[in-house]
Amino acid sequence: MSHHDERTFVMVKPDGVQRGLIGEIVSRFEERGLKLVAGKFIQIDRELAHEHYGEHEDKPFFDDLVEFITAGPVFAMVWEGADATRQVRSMVGETDPAESAPGTIRGDFGLDLGRNVIHASDHEDEGANEREIDLFFEEDELLDYERIDAAWLYEGEDH
Ligand code: RTP
Ligand code: MG
Repeated sequence: MSHHDERTFVMVKPDGVQRGLIGEIVSRFEERGLKLVAGKFIQIDRELAHEHYGEHEDKPFFDDLVEFITAGPVFAMVWEGADATRQVRSMVGETDPAESAPGTIRGDFGLDLGRNVIHASDHEDEGANEREIDLFFEEDELLDYERIDAAWLYEGEDH
C-alpha cells in the first residue's frame, strides 16, 4: 500500500440518522475520493458510549453526551485515503455547528452544539483513528479492495 491508505473513523450520530442524512454524508466522502472500507448500522449501549467518549468523562456535558449518542441508531464507518483523518475533519467543520463554515457537514446541517450530526476521529489526538476503529470494528470487517477510479484520484497511480 501507499500513503493513500490512512484510515479514519466516522459516525453519523442519532440526530443525523433520524433526519435522513446518512446518504448525503456518505455521498460527500465518496465524491471526495475517499474509499469506504467498513460500515455498520448499530445501537450504541452505555458501556460503548463511555469507552468512546472516555476523554470527556469529567466534563459537565458528559451525561448529556452519553444520552444523546445512545438515543437511537448510528451509522459507523471507516474511510480510507490520503491524509484521511485531517481531510474528513475539515469536511465535518467545527465542534459547534454555529461556528462551522457553510460547505462543511456541521455548517450545512446543524445549528446546535449538542446536535452536531456527525463524529469523526480527531486528527490532533494521535492514534484516535486506530483506537476508535478498533472499538467499533473487528479486523475482518475492514474490506480490502480498489476503487475503479483510483488511477484518476492520485497522481502517479498506475493506469
Ligand atoms: P466528536 O468527538 O463528537 O466528533 O466532536 P468533536 O471532536 O468536534 O468535539 P469533542 O470536543 O470531542 O466533543 C465531543 C462532543 O461533545 C459535545 N460537546 N458538548 N456542551 C459542550 O460544551 C460540549 N462540548 C462538546 C458535542 O456533541 C461534541 O461533538
Ligand atoms: Mg472528539
